[in-house]
Amino acid sequence: MTVTKSASRGRRASLAVICVVAATACGGRGSPTAATPLPPSPPTTDTLRAAAQATGRRIGAAVQSRLLNEARYGGTVAREFNYLTAEYEMKWGAIEATRGASDFGPGDNIVSFARSYGMDVKGHALLWHQSVPAWVGGLSPSDLRAAVAAHIREVAGHYRGRVHAWDVVNEAVSDDGLGLRDTVFRQKLGDGYIAEAFRLAREADPGALLFYNDYGGEGSGAKSNRVYDLLRSLIADGVPIDGVGLQMHVSANGRPSDGSIASNMQRLASLGLIVHISEMDVKVNGVGGSIDQKLDAQKAAYKSIVAVCLAQPRCEAVTFWGVSDAHTWIAGDTPLLFDAQYAAKPAHAGVLDALRGR
Ligand code: XIL
Repeated sequence: MTVTKSASRGRRASLAVICVVAATACGGRGSPTAATPLPPSPPTTDTLRAAAQATGRRIGAAVQSRLLNEARYGGTVAREFNYLTAEYEMKWGAIEATRGASDFGPGDNIVSFARSYGMDVKGHALLWHQSVPAWVGGLSPSDLRAAVAAHIREVAGHYRGRVHAWDVVNEAVSDDGLGLRDTVFRQKLGDGYIAEAFRLAREADPGALLFYNDYGGEGSGAKSNRVYDLLRSLIADGVPIDGVGLQMHVSANGRPSDGSIASNMQRLASLGLIVHISEMDVKVNGVGGSIDQKLDAQKAAYKSIVAVCLAQPRCEAVTFWGVSDAHTWIAGDTPLLFDAQYAAKPAHAGVLDALRGR
């Protein structure tokens, strides 16, 4: 674990003003604003960050660059987390919508925010079939191979030394678990594109941990088996891969059992991999009963799944896919730890309990 080392790097950096990069880099989606210094983190131990640090784990959130300068959002992130993932800003489609005109501003803003607060960053994600620039669609196989290589070299090279880890390939296994997902990468480059991507990423940033990230393979089942087999064969072939992210987008009333998550994590750890819970959120719309019952079911799910991670020595990080219910990617549900007014929900106490072993 490098929490301590990175945290001290970050503390030195915290002398710098928040978001020292140019104003255009501080917005995202065309909303540049001057950086607003955030209120200092209160010296409380009742934060996820303090509790996680005491266990040597990272506790993270997916963040949006354009929101970091809002006091409530930025203040909550700064207080509660020590590991940030860009929710969309470091994806290929976001960085290079126009070929050759890469925009690293929003991603850089997230990195500088993280450094200011002594946090690490996970780069997300170098290859994902849902964030491919439109211009990539028409390329011939050989042009696509060159474009993928240039993209990985450029992006992982840009963030070299500044991210703790990269999700190199995201969601490459088909939902039925029968094989690889039929993406533009697979169609034009063949199944070997996954190994190629990891090798390129290692070359571009030898210091970053390299992850495969997916959903639906958290517990037992065909997809989980397929992800396991894929990782096992990549490792057997000498592909540089360090970890696996289990996304963990689940529902309070429909989720893999704790036991199945624990045994899946154990077999992945036995391959020598670090395990992250990488995108956790817990939907509640399907839970019957009152609001309080929904919130309690959500708390129970968060608490027991985070406890499964803590019981596994190789499970080194839990990242939530967002901060408050005001900005969740799941429309119409309230799956996160903070409500839309940034008040901590029962789920927050559940995660704290798990981190403290209660
Ligand atoms: C989602 C983001 O939350 C959205 O803002 C974006 O528009 C689409 O992507 N799995 C992943 C994430 O690996 O990158 C996805 O994030 C959610 C599912």
